Amino acid sequence: MLYDRRDASISLRELALGSDCSPEGLEAALNCLCGRGHRIQISPDGLARLKQPIALDEGLIQRGLAAGRIGRHVICFGEVGSTNDVAFDSARQADSDGLVVLAESQTSGRGRIGRTWHGEPMSNIMMSVLLLDDRQELHLGALTVAGGVAVAEGIDEYVGLPTRLKWPNDVLLDGKKVSGVLTEARRIAGRQAVVVGMGINVNSCPPPEQVARPATCIASEAGHLVERTELIRAVISRLECWVRQIVQGRGEGLHKAWASRCDMIGTRTTVVCSQRQYTGRVLDISPLDELVLAQDDGQCVTLPAKGSTFLDGKC
Ligand code: BTN
Repeated sequence: MLYDRRDASISLRELALGSDCSPEGLEAALNCLCGRGHRIQISPDGLARLKQPIALDEGLIQRGLAAGRIGRHVICFGEVGSTNDVAFDSARQADSDGLVVLAESQTSGRGRIGRTWHGEPMSNIMMSVLLLDDRQELHLGALTVAGGVAVAEGIDEYVGLPTRLKWPNDVLLDGKKVSGVLTEARRIAGRQAVVVGMGINVNSCPPPEQVARPATCIASEAGHLVERTELIRAVISRLECWVRQIVQGRGEGLHKAWASRCDMIGTRTTVVCSQRQYTGRVLDISPLDELVLAQDDGQCVTLPAKGSTFLDGKC
């Protein structure tokens, strides 16, 4: 009730009636919410209000999620080392497939290629999704792409801002990075565990000296602060959809969704692969396998996405 009326106050009497609590029960419930990181303001005339920014809350996140594989269990932490590591550690527990781990802050958040990932507490989204892949049906590259596309679609859907993707899966707003995805796999207790880790700059941007390329946050682009709960749900729902398609062996939709957001197609670029340099126009770029380049001499060449470097920084 406090969340649903977050822009206004609600009387303690209405809260007690609505939650079927005695005054003592209501006090205990409010104390419990404060213990979970929420800040509740109560005025002398008995009006309560949930102060913003609102802490990450598993109950709120799960409340509006459609039943599916991802998000059957959600855990929110104040601070962890890396949400990816917490997700991997949970793989030993029964029924942990689809677990979503979120944290307000990370002390050793990881980015791609050995980078670190920074996130301001109570501001951004640092989320990892654990998938157990006993049947070897979750291609790591496909999941990485699914993570990027899901974040891009979640932002489009919830905030209404046009996102783009930079190979393979950085999410951009106005040409600046707003989110990155780190997908990792480990063998745990005889099972293949895959974690899709997503970092989204929602209400704060990392300082320029901490990032390799220009970064932004959703709030700066939208011009207002953004509530994280619904955005988290939107991303989880989109990821659920793509993971289902990957499992069913239907990769074309994902490729199309990715390609429609990637500005690389049709641009001229120079790629270094196996110590050779290729220059031409990008005909197709598959996030999973390869890049097809129409070279200036008229010949087409297919280069593996893995191991290719883009010289002009476009991709
Ligand atoms: C990148 O380099 O662009 C990928 C960044 C991925 C960061 C996220 S934050 C949640 C999860 N936990 C981590 O330690 N890393 C990922």
